[in-house]
Amino acid sequence: MKERITTGIDKLDSLMGGGIPKGNVVILAGGAGAGKSLFCFQFLYKNAKKGLKSAFISLEETPKQIIDDAIEAFSDFSDAEDLINKNSLIINGEDILQVISNSAFDDTKQMLYLFNNALASIYSIILNNNVSVAVIDSVTIFKNLISDPISFRLMSMKLINILKKNNITALLTLEVSKPYRDFLEFPPEFFIYDGVIGMYFSSNTDSRIRTLEIVKMRGTSHSTKAFPYEITSSGIDIVEI
Ligand SMILES: Nc1ncnc2c1ncn2[C@@H]1O[C@H](COP(=O)(O)OP(=O)(O)OP(=O)(O)O)[C@@H](O)[C@H]1O
Ligand SMILES: [Mg+2]
Repeated sequence: MKERITTGIDKLDSLMGGGIPKGNVVILAGGAGAGKSLFCFQFLYKNAKKGLKSAFISLEETPKQIIDDAIEAFSDFSDAEDLINKNSLIINGEDILQVISNSAFDDTKQMLYLFNNALASIYSIILNNNVSVAVIDSVTIFKNLISDPISFRLMSMKLINILKKNNITALLTLEVSKPYRDFLEFPPEFFIYDGVIGMYFSSNTDSRIRTLEIVKMRGTSHSTKAFPYEITSSGIDIVEI
């Protein structure tokens, strides 16, 4: 059996035979505020604690915001700052974010140039730090940059190839506009990733429940149900199995 990498959530690991098959590049798709960034932090924190070099490439929030929010939500992860200080857990991406946000978004060639620059930066973070587990939060920014779907798909494959060449197990977040299980659309890029995990809002009469589902995961059998999850001080957890 292929080596597994923990998602950071034990019960989720057990729904896919022990974890993400090593080297898989997985999309974490969900709505705004679903807990995608927190999930990613937990994934890296738990793997860093196991001795795997972990990198959070944040393209939406500054490293400080990511750390502050995670420590605020997960008070039990009090040693996260030690892992960061030891460089076992790297939080990066500020330079890429700055270049993207200072650019004019009106020319496809310029966008592809920016994307290639971003890829080069991601590549150097991975190589220089000997990373084996990584997060890119989020790839929605690339989707917004490259409006032509064929170019976006080709660029996404380029990103996947970089991660695969280095045997990185990765979570890439993607914001979906309709975060409901019945409305999950399968954009073409879903087909090129090894796995897709969906984080949804489900409504009952008077409240919204958050649920999580393994939509696809290459290299393993997995559950096809959606399970309620909650964000607790000791991490995101699945409530019922
Ligand atoms: N201490 C906490 N306890 C419980 N839930 C919390 C706590 N702190 C934050 N949350 C929840 O986590 C959510 C934010 O998580 P996170 O930033 O990971 O979401 P996201 O999916 O990355 O959002 P975005 O689309 O804005 O990037 C908030 O909407 C809130 O509901
Ligand atoms: Mg986020």
